Amino acid sequence: MPDPAGAHHERRIRSFQPRRSRVTYGQAEAMLKRWPDWGLDIDGKRVLDLGEMFDGLPVVLEIGFGMGEATAQMAAADPGTGILAVDVHTPGQGNLLGLADRNGLNNVRVANGDAIILLREMLGDATLDGCRVYFPDPWPKARHHKRRLIQPEFLSLLAPRMKPGAVLHCATDWEEYAVQMLEVLSAHPDYENTQADGGYAPRPDFRPLTRFEGQGLDKGHVVHDLLFRRK
Ligand SMILES: C[S@@+](CC[C@H](N)C(=O)[O-])C[C@H]1O[C@@H](n2cnc3c(N)ncnc32)[C@H](O)[C@@H]1O
Repeated sequence: MPDPAGAHHERRIRSFQPRRSRVTYGQAEAMLKRWPDWGLDIDGKRVLDLGEMFDGLPVVLEIGFGMGEATAQMAAADPGTGILAVDVHTPGQGNLLGLADRNGLNNVRVANGDAIILLREMLGDATLDGCRVYFPDPWPKARHHKRRLIQPEFLSLLAPRMKPGAVLHCATDWEEYAVQMLEVLSAHPDYENTQADGGYAPRPDFRPLTRFEGQGLDKGHVVHDLLFRRK
């Protein structure tokens, strides 16, 4: 597989830690079968035609889908929306392709690589109908906070790719990251809170329990959802 950072071997802070984890036989099989049609490498070399990729469906970007269980459930529940799911984690990519294959989900595409490069170089303006960031790595140590995905620079990169009115949905079980998310999202001029009180949103019914969320809940963490609209 190509370098998950894409073809740009530039020095910059990344929001993920490359992991070497075993790909199961089933995941590898799903990759072989479905990658040619449903997978794409983030090489930063072309602008994607989302209309063609998703047969004209509205498209939501999901950043960091992990093992993809929640992604597959959301795709099955809403076949009229395309999900462009991005992660660097190979076993998860195989897992999601396997889930999509077994459940006949034609509305999921899997992108391998760094979402920042995807946004910066491969997505056109006003092409996204939404963006989901569920349980992004919390990077708990203070010296790692700069690696957190939800920061003003990220929001500025995403905003022009979102159609006006498109919703950015974030969720986290890391209290202090939730506070940071609320702060930077509320301060950003391109987004407005969907909640009249300017706070967290009640957990929407359409978001299934994710794997990381389950682990957080087991530890007694409280989960916060944030729903902000692109102005
Ligand atoms: C803590 S996991 C959460 C996974 C899943 N959303 C869940 O709730 O179970 C965060 C995921 O985001 C991915 N990730 C972090 N930064 C990323 C980036 N810049 N581009 C693509 N994936 C990224 C990681 O590889 C990891 O799989």
